[in-house]
Amino acid sequence: MSVPLADSLENPPPAAAVERAAELRAALNHHAHLYYVLDAPTLPDAGYDRLFQELQALEAAHPALHTPDSPTLRVGGAVLEGFTPVRHAVPMLSIRTETDTTAGGAQAFDGRVRRELELDETAGAIEYAVELKFDGLAINLRYERGVLVQAATRGDGETGEDVTQNIRTVRQIPLRLMDCDAPVLEVRGEVYMRRDDFERLNERQREKGGKTFINPRNTAAGAIRQLDPAGLVDKRLSFFAYGLGEVQGWEVPPTHAAVLDALAGMGLPVCVERAVVAGADGLVTFHQRVAALRDALPFDIDGVVYKVNDRALQERLGFVTREPRWAVAHKYPAQEQMTRLLDIDIQVGRTGKLTPVAKLEPVFVGGTTVSNATLHNEDEARRKDVRIGDTVIVRRAGDVIPEVVGVVPDKRPPDAGEPFDLYQRLQGACPVCGSAILREEGEVDWRCTGGLFCPAQRKQALLHFASRRMMDIEGLGDKLVDQLVDAGIIRTLPELYQLGVLKLTALDRMGEKSAQNLVAALEKSKQTTLARFLFSLGIRHVGEATAKDLARHFGRIDAIMDASEEQLLAVRDVGPIVAHSIRTFFEQPHNREVVEQLRAAGVTWEEHDGAVADASPKPLAGKTLVLTGTLPTLSREDAKALIEAAGGKVSGSVSKKTHWVVAGEEAGSKLDKARELGVAVVDEAGLRALLATAPD
Ligand code: IVH
Repeated sequence: MSVPLADSLENPPPAAAVERAAELRAALNHHAHLYYVLDAPTLPDAGYDRLFQELQALEAAHPALHTPDSPTLRVGGAVLEGFTPVRHAVPMLSIRTETDTTAGGAQAFDGRVRRELELDETAGAIEYAVELKFDGLAINLRYERGVLVQAATRGDGETGEDVTQNIRTVRQIPLRLMDCDAPVLEVRGEVYMRRDDFERLNERQREKGGKTFINPRNTAAGAIRQLDPAGLVDKRLSFFAYGLGEVQGWEVPPTHAAVLDALAGMGLPVCVERAVVAGADGLVTFHQRVAALRDALPFDIDGVVYKVNDRALQERLGFVTREPRWAVAHKYPAQEQMTRLLDIDIQVGRTGKLTPVAKLEPVFVGGTTVSNATLHNEDEARRKDVRIGDTVIVRRAGDVIPEVVGVVPDKRPPDAGEPFDLYQRLQGACPVCGSAILREEGEVDWRCTGGLFCPAQRKQALLHFASRRMMDIEGLGDKLVDQLVDAGIIRTLPELYQLGVLKLTALDRMGEKSAQNLVAALEKSKQTTLARFLFSLGIRHVGEATAKDLARHFGRIDAIMDASEEQLLAVRDVGPIVAHSIRTFFEQPHNREVVEQLRAAGVTWEEHDGAVADASPKPLAGKTLVLTGTLPTLSREDAKALIEAAGGKVSGSVSKKTHWVVAGEEAGSKLDKARELGVAVVDEAGLRALLATAPD
C-alpha cells in the first residue's frame, strides 16, 4: 500500500527558496529587534512589510519552509479549545513582599539577609541587583538551540499553561535568540501592557461603543490567556526578562546583573531602569529614585525588586517554601483604590464637549489625594452602571487624569441613584451658558451648542474668530486672549470691537505701540467677506469650504440665519449633519444677537442675492458608510470626501444603522462585524456605483 507523501516531501523546496527564506527570517527577526526592543528602526515600515510578504508567499508555496522561528507565525493561529498544561522544569517562585513602603522595608530585608549569612557589622555591604516590579503576567519562555519552542504561564508555580501561540504575537519577544546555541535556555519575565497602548485600546473601545478595560495588567493577563488569537491583534503587549528557568549547555554568569546583561545581548528586552547597589542604603536610594520616576515610566509598576546579586550567595540563602530568601519586592502606594461616588458633575471643555466628572470621597491613590475623576462620557458611565452612592474603583497612574474604572456592585446601597442620564441631568441645557446641548448620531459626546456665546468656550471662540483665515486680527494671540478673558475685559465676541488703546495699555506687557497696532488690526478686520464671517462664528461642522459654499449659495447672512434644514441641504456639500448644526446654531437667540452686535460694531461684507440653485444630486443623503481596509485606488480621505460630497456620512464603527461597509484589502474586525450584523459590504467598484446612482 502506498502512502501519499506530503506535498512538501514530494517536492522539496528548491535550494534557492530555502536560502531566501532563511535570509528573510534572519532579516525580519533582526529588524523586529531594532524596532521593538531597541526602539531604533533602520528600515521603513513598508520595507519590513515587503520582506514579510515575500516570506509569507514563499512559505505558502513551500510549506516545508515553515519553521518555529518564522515571523509569519506572529499573526496568530487557529482558535484553541483550551490550553495544554505545562509542567515547569524548574518551579516558578514568587517573591516575598515587603509591605512597609518606607525605607524600613529595605533595611529589614538587608538585615534578614545579613543574619542568614551570619555576617557581623565588620563584614562589608551586600551587593544587590535592583530592578522594577513589573505589573503584568509572569511567563516562562523556553528556547531550544536559540529558537522559541514554548511559552507557559506561571500557573501554580509547578504547572502552567501553554500559551506559545499567543506569546508569538508579542513582537518584543524574539522568536530566535542572537548568538545562543544552548540546548535549553528558559527565560523568565513579565508580559505587560504599556500605558499608552492601554489608553489607545480604551480610546478605540470608547469610539466604537465597546466595553473599556480596567487596567493594563488585567488586559495583558486576559489577552495572553484568551483562546482566540484574533483578539490579541489590537492589544499591543510588551515584555521584560528578569530571570532564568531551566538551563542546559550555557554557562550562567556569576551575578544576576550579568545574567540580565547576557539576556539583553541575546536580543531579549531587559528594562534599563536597574542597577547594582551596596547595602541597605543603596536599596533605599533606589526605592526613592524609582518612586520619583514612577509617574514618568511608560508602564505600571507596583514596586521595586531587590535581589542578592551574587548567585553563589543566592544559593547559600536558599528558599522558604516558595519564596527565595535572596529576593524581596518592596511596594509603593497602590494606583487603584475604592471610594464612594458622592455626585456627578458635568464639565464643559474648551470645545464645548460635556464630560461627566465623578465627585469622590477624597482618597489617596497613586501618590496623591484624588477627589475628582473622569467618567469620560455618558455611554461609558452607563456601561459601567455608575450611580451616585456607589463604591467605585478609582485609578490614577502616570500623568493620566484619574478615572473611575468600575463599580463594586456588592457595595451598592439601597438608596443609590438612577442610571446616569446626561441630558436629563442637565435638562438639555449647558451648565455654563444654558444653550441647548446636542449629541450627534454616531458621536459619543454631548456638546454645548453655545459656541462663542458660552463662557467655557470663550477663549477658544475668540482665538478662532481672530485667526488668519477668519477675521484675521493680527496680534490677538493666546496670551492676550487669556489676559482679556481672565481680567473680565471681554465676555462676548462683540466686546472685542470696544477695545481701545486705554483699556489695552492697562494690561501686562502691553505697550502703547502694540495697543495701537491691535486697535488698528481690529479696525481693519471689520472689512471682511460673508464666507470669512460665517467661518469665524465657529459653527460646528462649518469649515472654510462650507462657509464659502453657504455664502455663494445664499448671498446674505439673514438668508442663512433663516434657512430651513431643507434649504440648507440644497447647498453643495451640505449634508444632514451640517444642516442640522447650522439650524441649531441660529435657532438660539443669543447667537443671532452676537451676529447683530458684530454688525452694529461695524463688521461688514458685501452681500448679493444668492446663486442660482447649485444643488448637486445627493445619492447618499442620509446614509451611513464605514470604511475598512485599503482600497485599490482611493485613499481613505478621498473615499470619505466623495461619500460626504454625495451627502453620506462616514462612521468609524459598524452598527445596525450602517448602510454599507466599504471593504478593501486587509479589512479587519469591521468586516466581521458587518457580516455578523448582516450589513451590506461593497468594494471600491461598488462604492463608485453607489456614488453614481441613488439606490434605496
Ligand atoms: S523575580 C525568584 N523580578 O512578581 C523570584 N519577579 O511574586 C522570581 N515580577 O509573578 C521572580 N517584576 O512575575 C521578579 N523584576 C522582577 C519582577 C517580578 C515583576 C513578578 C513576577 C511574579 C511576582 C513574584
